[in-house]
Amino acid sequence: MAELPQNLFGVALVGSGSAIPSQSLTNDQLGQRVDTSDSWIRTRTGIGARRVIGPDESITSLSSKAALAAVEMAGWNLESIDLILLATSTPDDLFGSATAIQAELGAKNSVCFDLTAACSGFLFSLVTAAQFLRTGAMKRALVIGADQLSRWVDWDDRRSCVLFGDGAGALALEATSPESDGLIGFKLKSDGFRGNCLNLPQVGKYLSLASGINHQQGGFEFIQMNGQEVYKFAVREVPLILAEVLELHEIHPDKLDWLLLHQANQRILDSVAERFSIPNEKVLSNLSSYGNTSAATIPLMLDEAVQDGRIQSGNLIASSGFGAGLSWGAALIRWQGPA
Ligand code: COA
Repeated sequence: MAELPQNLFGVALVGSGSAIPSQSLTNDQLGQRVDTSDSWIRTRTGIGARRVIGPDESITSLSSKAALAAVEMAGWNLESIDLILLATSTPDDLFGSATAIQAELGAKNSVCFDLTAACSGFLFSLVTAAQFLRTGAMKRALVIGADQLSRWVDWDDRRSCVLFGDGAGALALEATSPESDGLIGFKLKSDGFRGNCLNLPQVGKYLSLASGINHQQGGFEFIQMNGQEVYKFAVREVPLILAEVLELHEIHPDKLDWLLLHQANQRILDSVAERFSIPNEKVLSNLSSYGNTSAATIPLMLDEAVQDGRIQSGNLIASSGFGAGLSWGAALIRWQGPA
């Protein structure tokens, strides 16, 4: 086994929470807008409906709700939180929304920032937050994954609009002894050379500011996606990175309690599970209700399975996130839950 860095502290996953927008958009309703059908969407993706943030909700409000639920499960005092890390590509404020969550929660002693890594954002943030806990620099961290891709989807493009939805999920992480570590292993990867198959680019519009000087007007286009390339990327890279982490930690796939992948497409989930001979009942999926909520899918799914009792204290979970960047990663985690 390769030499692993020694950690002063372990990281315990002690609370989870989630929040979804109240508006639900079914495939049939989408079929009234674009040329698609419930059966096409279900067969190709496993998605039956998605949630869409309306006028009374926002990334900040959903994230705060999810975060508060995680804090309550963990039994924390809000003032004891050292870090609030928001994984999102769609903040309410381009300067970041983590501080707005801090203010809404009243978590006045926390340092707060956003992290952008598209659909891999939650996994990247989990690993980032864990580094502060491992070194002893911090004791308690809230990691939130939230996205509102409904803002940036072209609702007239049937090749992409059927996939995405909005939501938020959160995890409460606490420094613990190295023996009780709940982040057993991870690997993160990026490949900007293949980045052009999934983008949300700027509007390339320049205005005259003064004689001979132009400035760019802010704004973004719609999501641009080459679905087939993204699909091929996911079914190739996710098994490879998961295998790497499992092998490094000498864990056989049959020792896993759950496979918790980024919820992009049921066919991707099935393909990865098949590669490791993981039975369907161990593969967590809520695609049929929420579609792809980007950085929110992993904590949203985790919280759902904790709430309904599927995930139990001590369960071993293999997780993988993947998406734009391109970015992808895998983590082996052990759910502890509240003390
Ligand atoms: N409803 C009906 N027909 C549709 C459709 C829709 N929503 N979207 C595409 N089609 C049509 C296409 O126009 C095409 O028709 P044609 O053969 O007449 O040209 C046909 O269906 C097949 O299109 P194709 O793009 O080959 O479908 P696919 O089997 O690759 O499925 C995706 C498309 C998007 C579902 C699939 O590629 C995918 O899930 N990719 C991964 C995307 C993803 O997860 N992105 C986020 C990653 S974080």
